[in-house]
Amino acid sequence: MCGIVGYVGPQPALEVVVDGLARLEYRGYDSAGIAVLSDGRLQTEKRAGKLANLRAVLDHDAPPADGIGIGHTRWATHGPPTDINAHPHVDNDNRVAVIHNGIIENFAPLRLELEERGCKFTSETDTEVTAHLLAEELKERGDRDLAGAMRSVCRRLEGAFTLVAMFADAPELVVAARRNSPLVVGRGEGENFLASDVAAFIAHTRDAVELGQDQVVELRADSVTVTDYDGRPADVREYHVDWDASAAEKGGYEYFMLKEIVEQPRAVADTLLGRVAVDGTLTLDEMRLAPSELRDIEKIVIIACGTSYHAGLIAKYAIEHWCRVPCEVEVASEFRYRDPILNRQTLVIAISQSGESMDTLMAVRYAREQRARVLAICNVNGSTIPRESDGVLYTHAGPEVGVAATKTFLTQLVACYLVGLYLAQVRTVKFGDEINAVIEQLANMPEQVESVLTTIDPVRQLARSLSSADTVLFLGRHVGYPVALEGALKLKELAYMHAEAFAAGELKHGPIALIEEGLPVVVVVPSREGRGVLHDKIVSNIQEIRARGARTIVIAEQGDTTVRPFADELIEIPPVPTLLQPIISTVPMQVFACELALAKGNDVDQPRNLAKSVTVE
Ligand code: F6R
Repeated sequence: MCGIVGYVGPQPALEVVVDGLARLEYRGYDSAGIAVLSDGRLQTEKRAGKLANLRAVLDHDAPPADGIGIGHTRWATHGPPTDINAHPHVDNDNRVAVIHNGIIENFAPLRLELEERGCKFTSETDTEVTAHLLAEELKERGDRDLAGAMRSVCRRLEGAFTLVAMFADAPELVVAARRNSPLVVGRGEGENFLASDVAAFIAHTRDAVELGQDQVVELRADSVTVTDYDGRPADVREYHVDWDASAAEKGGYEYFMLKEIVEQPRAVADTLLGRVAVDGTLTLDEMRLAPSELRDIEKIVIIACGTSYHAGLIAKYAIEHWCRVPCEVEVASEFRYRDPILNRQTLVIAISQSGESMDTLMAVRYAREQRARVLAICNVNGSTIPRESDGVLYTHAGPEVGVAATKTFLTQLVACYLVGLYLAQVRTVKFGDEINAVIEQLANMPEQVESVLTTIDPVRQLARSLSSADTVLFLGRHVGYPVALEGALKLKELAYMHAEAFAAGELKHGPIALIEEGLPVVVVVPSREGRGVLHDKIVSNIQEIRARGARTIVIAEQGDTTVRPFADELIEIPPVPTLLQPIISTVPMQVFACELALAKGNDVDQPRNLAKSVTVE
């Protein structure tokens, strides 16, 4: 949430910062702002709304900039998205400018205290206190030590924050601090960058430095100095980003989401790459969990939010079936508040594409306090959740810029399957043949996803024909139920429509009362192989809703003649084992929601009120 960029170097700072913000806008688009130094004076410009609004002002009247600047795209928490509440915020003398991601929980008493000392506040944000505190601290010190001032201010703050500051009297320096919010440094030649995400500077450098918890970084053109809040030198991890700028560009597509849907076969293949040997043995050494530890596990608890939670629900079916270990799945925001039972024999799997969701991070910390082992499944190298977990399995979806998760979801499924199959192998459960067959099938999934994409056009037409519907319902059984949940979530977030998903068997216990003439209902039909009973049950459910007037949109296996008579619209997918079916049955759901939203004229990359990385609780 909120995108942050900082730059020190010889390039025109304003261009570098605004270009970085464009790549981070998916993190929040309620407002955007910049601060630069020109001739030792701080110049800020900020506008409510998307970056385009700020750009329009800058195109017309850009402040001249020395080689130092900071910029921010906001996802509003305190104070509505107005020009005034947009970041940067400055002190009363306009000497210090600050941008912030997170929430300063004790801002109210700090604000009172500052007002009593005569500070004038202009905004309703929690952030503004930090500009005044830094200015006071610098005055008291009577020096230019912005990093020292930042360290003492941070010691007074509660909550989660990445703070980035500039000081008119230190024109060579940008200082940043982090606690519970993301911040990464990009090292260039004679220039340095900082940002919430490497995407902001990937066009300039792929050499990154990961900052730890409660650290302060001083960024100059020729140096990067990292200390803890007491000023002691801190350890940092340097790494090389393994994708380039083109991966975070639209590549000819009108929207990132369209590109990211099409990239799914590659994303799935990359996530499998190097992990499945020809003989079916899985190698997941990066999990940093020894086979002996995995054999000790008595219970698995999956924690995640939103789409990642849906991946977890699907994983439960697979893990319990393959490994015969009890597996619970819980929304991360609820987890630590209900006193869950965890111990050393519990494996907690935290699924988060961003690796920064605050709800999941807090659940991870709670789990580790209870001595559970924590494995992260994550798409962002070096992000906080994997860093704070015992082990990690990275998905290799590449950067996902569209706010709605698509390719990261499919790769999370692959990662969950790999964990389940690996556990089954390590624990030598009784389904050896089935496990080997599934591993073989998993290796074929990139082609299966590709084949769904090549036959997807009718789904687009169908979606457009439904753009004036008020409600769409989704039904599924077994792993098809979380797929239905995911289909409904995509439609809500992209098309702003009422969409709800039910386990098809629950329909008769109440929701069937919603069915009326012409109501579109999307039904995910499980594969016939192995689980024929389930398949036949859902075919009966389809008949029940059709008899009551529903317009049935059925996603079923190619050649499934039994559903055809009851499907007003049939979307066919290749036959695969039921447990793996979500990898392909989700794809039509994504295309359906995306196309319907586009038909309504919505921005599918930046749906209203959302942000890609939710770093508040
Ligand atoms: C939906 C979506 C969100 C995220 C959720 C968790 O399309 O993207 O529901 O899945 O905010 O985010 P991560 O996976 O980053 O923890």
